[in-house]
Amino acid sequence: MDESFSAEVDSFFDSAPPLPDGENISKRLADFIARNQRSSEGKPIRVVCVSSGGTTVPLEQRCVRYIDNFSSGHRGATSTEYFIKAGYAVIFLHRRGTYQPYCRYLPEDSFLDFFEVTEDSTIRVCEEHAKEVNQAIRNYRSAVERGQLLKIPFTSIFEYLQVLRIVAGSMKSLESSAMFYLAAAVSDFYVPWESMAVHKIQSAGGPLDMRLAPVPKMLSLLRKEWAPMAFCISFKLETDSEILLKKADMALRKYGMHVVVANELSTRKKEVIVVTEGSKVKLRIKDSNEEVEKKLVDLLVDHHSNYIDLENKNLVI
Ligand code: PMT
Repeated sequence: MDESFSAEVDSFFDSAPPLPDGENISKRLADFIARNQRSSEGKPIRVVCVSSGGTTVPLEQRCVRYIDNFSSGHRGATSTEYFIKAGYAVIFLHRRGTYQPYCRYLPEDSFLDFFEVTEDSTIRVCEEHAKEVNQAIRNYRSAVERGQLLKIPFTSIFEYLQVLRIVAGSMKSLESSAMFYLAAAVSDFYVPWESMAVHKIQSAGGPLDMRLAPVPKMLSLLRKEWAPMAFCISFKLETDSEILLKKADMALRKYGMHVVVANELSTRKKEVIVVTEGSKVKLRIKDSNEEVEKKLVDLLVDHHSNYIDLENKNLVI
């Protein structure tokens, strides 16, 4: 790591407000990893950290206002369900208030519309939603009971990167069985904590001048130091299709990612392009009954299997 990058990283973490429940997060992670280290047959279990939703950049320490990053969390929540189906244990690192696995009708559809109250005051699921609610509850309960799902929330960029570092540290021992699927939309600029107004900024002060510092690109740190053996997938979102693939290629090389998933804002639910060293595969759904995340997770699981095989061969040689 070059000196100026290392100074940027230190300054980001040194100035970040400490995580209020850092110890509890570390403990829950340690328990989750211990439980998912090996299957009952002694085989290593694959664990994926799915990041989901956008990070905020607070403008005041006692935060009233913040800059936000677009992401509903739909991609992360949907992918989590498919990873669990594929046998992975999932650490779902998500923005508070965004879409959750097995509960993807929320927050847009009202939860109350799914239920009705009978004359004797019993609450029951409406007939037309019974099948999907039943299935969702079963799938969710089964994932939790089997210890396959751990949910950790974040809001600000400070919280997200501190938690990601802890998650990576706890997954390091899993070596090539670990995967990072970084669908979160992470802020590119932030207000350093020590230069941030403490109280609500007053509008009477006239136009607001504010200097934002670049958020260090932690992807390279994740690859080189935090969990160097893990299989890493990052995402690239653009609104201009002309530059999308160029930027995805760049991310692949610059941050040493194994896969970059390129998507365009307006078509992201129908189409993604999976970019690896030497290949670009377009995945597209045919109709609204399909989910592009199913195809994506299937392909990534294959890539991960090949990666694990290769790493194991290298160990033998
Ligand atoms: O949530 P939905 O509404 O379903 O939408 C899904 C999505 C469009 C948000 C998702 O598919 C997506 O593309 N997410 C990444 C958005 C993006 O382009 O982020 P980025 O360019 O800021 O970052 C690129 C990658 O680096 C991302 O994987 C990000 O998680 C990671 N990153 C970025 C900056 C930083 N300091 N650290 C990081 O780890």
